[in-house]
Amino acid sequence: MKVPYLVAAQPQPALAPDSATDHFIQLRNVCKSYGEQLVVMDNLNLDMRADDRLVIIGPSGSGKSSLLRVLMGLEGIQGGTIHFQGKPYINGATVRGKPLDENLRTRIGMVFQHYTLFPHLSVLSNLILAPTKVHGLSKAEATERARMYLVRLGLESKLNAYPSQLSGGQKQRVAIARALMLEPKLMLFDEVTSALDPEMVIEVQNVMMQLAEQKMAMIIVTHDMHFARHIATRVVFCANGKVVEQGPPEQIFTQPKEARTREFLEKVLHLD
Ligand SMILES: Nc1ncnc2c1ncn2[C@@H]1O[C@H](COP(=O)(O)OP(=O)(O)OP(=O)(O)O)[C@@H](O)[C@H]1O
Ligand SMILES: [Mg+2]
Repeated sequence: MKVPYLVAAQPQPALAPDSATDHFIQLRNVCKSYGEQLVVMDNLNLDMRADDRLVIIGPSGSGKSSLLRVLMGLEGIQGGTIHFQGKPYINGATVRGKPLDENLRTRIGMVFQHYTLFPHLSVLSNLILAPTKVHGLSKAEATERARMYLVRLGLESKLNAYPSQLSGGQKQRVAIARALMLEPKLMLFDEVTSALDPEMVIEVQNVMMQLAEQKMAMIIVTHDMHFARHIATRVVFCANGKVVEQGPPEQIFTQPKEARTREFLEKVLHLD
């Protein structure tokens, strides 16, 4: 059997900057499937500008988390190309998701639905682990940076706490602070509030709004349509492995052009 990701890499040229998209992220004909049958990206094309906050919506199982995991270099694709900041980043020959340029990958931070903090480490140790080990920051420098982010996120009193001593919302805010420690250019959020009690949802969404005000580029997967409308510069509706429709939140939520989008929104807005 032909193993798609072992096909020799084709050299990819860097892209010239283009003010229309600025090529911050560019996906072209991206194909991804699990096994022989389950296609989650079917020649998917998507562009993102450095000042975009994309909110990805779509039916359960439509591949939203898969897309974020691919961008984070956690999973491979079988075909197509992804450029990041104008440079070749991932392609169909990227073995098991390992990006072509590891340096680019470290510019992306991700927060997951279920907190992924190390339970045996304090908040401070969780925060300084990667910057000291991977980025070679001194412990003093990393600690100073950690304090700065914890203050900004209203968590300074939790510096020495352990994850088990934090609420769900606090854990998610620590997870966001930890991702910010590597000073990413792009943040990916995969349903980061869907496991939280309602009052904790707001505190995490407020932190994300703060990042939005600071012009952080973000790709957000959420089932919370109210928040999507609030934070997005552009909403992307995906189904059957493709982008069905995308546009400004006002247009997508009030005047969707595609029947498939309308059908989906009617269903989820009805449930809200
Ligand atoms: N590692 C894997 N191996 C096999 N199948 C997988 C794997 N990861 C995801 N899938 C399948 O791929 C499809 C897309 O999954 P994905 O998690 O990307 O969807 P999603 O859009 O994030 O869904 P949800 O809204 O429920 O989170 C699903 O059918 C899922 O079961
Ligand atoms: Mg998902």
